[in-house]
Amino acid sequence: MSVLVLGGTGYIGSHAVYQLIDQDEKVIVIDNLETGHLEAIHPNATFYQGDIRDIDFLRKVFKAEPIHSVLHFAANSLVGESMENPLKYFDNNVHGTQVLLKAMTEYGVKKIVFSSTAATYGEPKQVPITEEMPTLPTSTYGETKLTMEKLMKWCGIAHGIRYVSLRYFNVAGARETAEIGEDHQPESHLIPIVLQTALNQREHVTIFGSDYNTDDGTCIRDYIHVEDLIAAHLLALDYLNNNGSSDIFNLGSSKGFSVKQIVETARKVTGNEIPVKYGPRRPGDPSVLIASSDKAREILGWIPERTHITKIVEDAWRWHSTHPLGYRTEGTS
Ligand code: UFG
Repeated sequence: MSVLVLGGTGYIGSHAVYQLIDQDEKVIVIDNLETGHLEAIHPNATFYQGDIRDIDFLRKVFKAEPIHSVLHFAANSLVGESMENPLKYFDNNVHGTQVLLKAMTEYGVKKIVFSSTAATYGEPKQVPITEEMPTLPTSTYGETKLTMEKLMKWCGIAHGIRYVSLRYFNVAGARETAEIGEDHQPESHLIPIVLQTALNQREHVTIFGSDYNTDDGTCIRDYIHVEDLIAAHLLALDYLNNNGSSDIFNLGSSKGFSVKQIVETARKVTGNEIPVKYGPRRPGDPSVLIASSDKAREILGWIPERTHITKIVEDAWRWHSTHPLGYRTEGTS
């Protein structure tokens, strides 16, 4: 039997494929390669290129492969873009999940681990954020992920699909061996931008806002190592395989670091200067996002072992410094 990984050529999905194969699982990858990378596919995975909104394509894969469960990473995930182009997000994220659930129902596949986000909470009234807190997304992206969770819930009631939704905080780092890592075009996430500046690919990092109500005036986020994040997905699969009921879990470290602290850590790890400039706040950025991950620890038995900020930046640096152009090679765009 195989695990189907949707979006398995992206940053987080590719790390899932590698860990599943480390654990001797048979892995089927689906990706439309719109934002993912062919080079990120593990050589032992079976790859189908196609779009999850295409029901005939999905039927072909579900018919050909003995799929017992699904890990769903296939989505657009840029908060800013989602505000400019909401319909793109509803189409790819929500409609795509609707089609996927239809195919799962037709082929009797009843277990899904889902990639959700802290953006479902919006601006929290207090931190750390627990799973019971209100979900009031402040972006289209967060709204689509919340809607995808609701689709799974109602398909669970009607068709017996069981899901685990994992609400990620700030995912960073890379596989320790640096075969795969983070490569977004264009890049908008803090740690890759800071490390690209350390590589002199950017003149400076612009810090978005220095007047937040935090100790140093910059935003605080909860960073989680991508390998720990994926370990939680594998535990979630075990949980579903052991008849666990549908549930939602936060994944974070329960610790917050400011933008300035991230730059400082990267200066120490890389030994480079990393110039910064201060710019205005980025619209929609909450000042502090910190997870309570007690529920994942208690119910899934999750212990994030690599989630220390220096380790996260070191592993990200190993990837960026050995792949300064990401998956591209000289001369390609
Ligand atoms: N930041 C800068 N300069 C940059 C880039 C980021 O100062 O060039 C700051 C941001 O303002 C923010 C922090 O660094 O305070 C982290 O920003 P990221 O873009 O790396 O991450 P976000 O916290 O904005 O986004 C993450 C996930 C999203 C998710 C969101 C939930 O990447 O998928 O958390 O709010 F939706």
